Amino acid sequence: MPSSHDALTARWRPEFPGLARSTYMNTCSLGQLSRRSIEAMNRYMELWMSYGASAWYELWLGEMTDARARFARLINAPPHEVAILPSVGVALSIIGSSLQYGARNEVVITEMDFPTIPYQWMARSEEGAEVRLLSSPDRVQVPLRSFADAINERTALVATTHVFFTSGWIQDIAAISRMAHDAGALSVVDGYQAAGQIPVDVKAAGVDVYLSGGLKWLLGGPGIVFMYVREDLIPALNPTTTGWFAAKDMFKFNPERFIRADDARRFEPGTPAVAAVYTANAGMSIIEEIGVDAIRARTQALNADLIGRLRAAGLEPRIPADLDRHAGIVMLPADDPAGLVQGLKDRHVIIDYRPGAVRLSPYFYNSEEENQILVDAIVDVLRG
Ligand SMILES: Cc1ncc(COP(=O)(O)O)c(C=O)c1O
Repeated sequence: MPSSHDALTARWRPEFPGLARSTYMNTCSLGQLSRRSIEAMNRYMELWMSYGASAWYELWLGEMTDARARFARLINAPPHEVAILPSVGVALSIIGSSLQYGARNEVVITEMDFPTIPYQWMARSEEGAEVRLLSSPDRVQVPLRSFADAINERTALVATTHVFFTSGWIQDIAAISRMAHDAGALSVVDGYQAAGQIPVDVKAAGVDVYLSGGLKWLLGGPGIVFMYVREDLIPALNPTTTGWFAAKDMFKFNPERFIRADDARRFEPGTPAVAAVYTANAGMSIIEEIGVDAIRARTQALNADLIGRLRAAGLEPRIPADLDRHAGIVMLPADDPAGLVQGLKDRHVIIDYRPGAVRLSPYFYNSEEENQILVDAIVDVLRG
């Protein structure tokens, strides 16, 4: 392991055994597996084996309650406003199926948002939905002015992102939500690249719907997404994409009447991936224990260090000018991003790429020494 003088990194590195196998700089794609998540997964399998179906009533529903509560604490919301879902795509399709696209049929989205957002409403064009895709002048951010120009009395909702997946730019979600509300529209925010690595306060931001999941900065692995829906809005949304978990009295198994739950369970379609609930709870317990403010401070320091080392090596990362609006994703434009990723992999350095650039994403468990290993490996591959 590279030595580190940072106490937080030194304290937590042993919790992630995978860090000894490579220089891992890819949390924006998949967070590292912790010992806690390994133990949680083992516990889940043991319970499955020894309890059988009674694990549902005695343990697994309780584990789901814990997961909703943990995520709720991370975003400053009460647990009854949080639903558990399998993916952002499913969560958005449930929200999308709750709306009518009549006089208000426009959905404001940006070209920097993860494509699952525009796809969701493009797929609803036959229902009347129309996507207004805002462009980014610099591939880093979308000016608030563009939102202001696009949002009007025809806007049904603004569906955009907290931290952009190909720039790390932190959008002003409070300002965007305010614009949506002033026009009588809803705000939906994809916080997959935000929750865990930067502070999130859905109440202060005033958003209507906020999403994040286990995969990345929450260290919980694939298969679980959390969706916050503002309490007052819950009864007004009647998703047609639904299932028995959404029923108020789900265990009455009444096929004759469907009464939706009053809380955010209204948006849960069916049996979740219980293994993912266990690994996500373990991951989020680490985030809670360290504290998001401490994680943000450490990740910002690592980002600044990485940017400095890249520039010292003559490389030009594409990053926001204002580093206070930059979360832990450093983009490095490249002629052959896939080739660069493969070259680094051959040198046991793990990153990923998106069109035209590679993504570098140190997290609190990484060190400055690893930043240098990464930069040296990039220089080595580019030299050929
Ligand atoms: C910003 C963002 N949203 C959503 C997703 C994934 O969405 P889904 O859960 O539908 O696979 C990702 C990455 O995988 C992402 O980076």
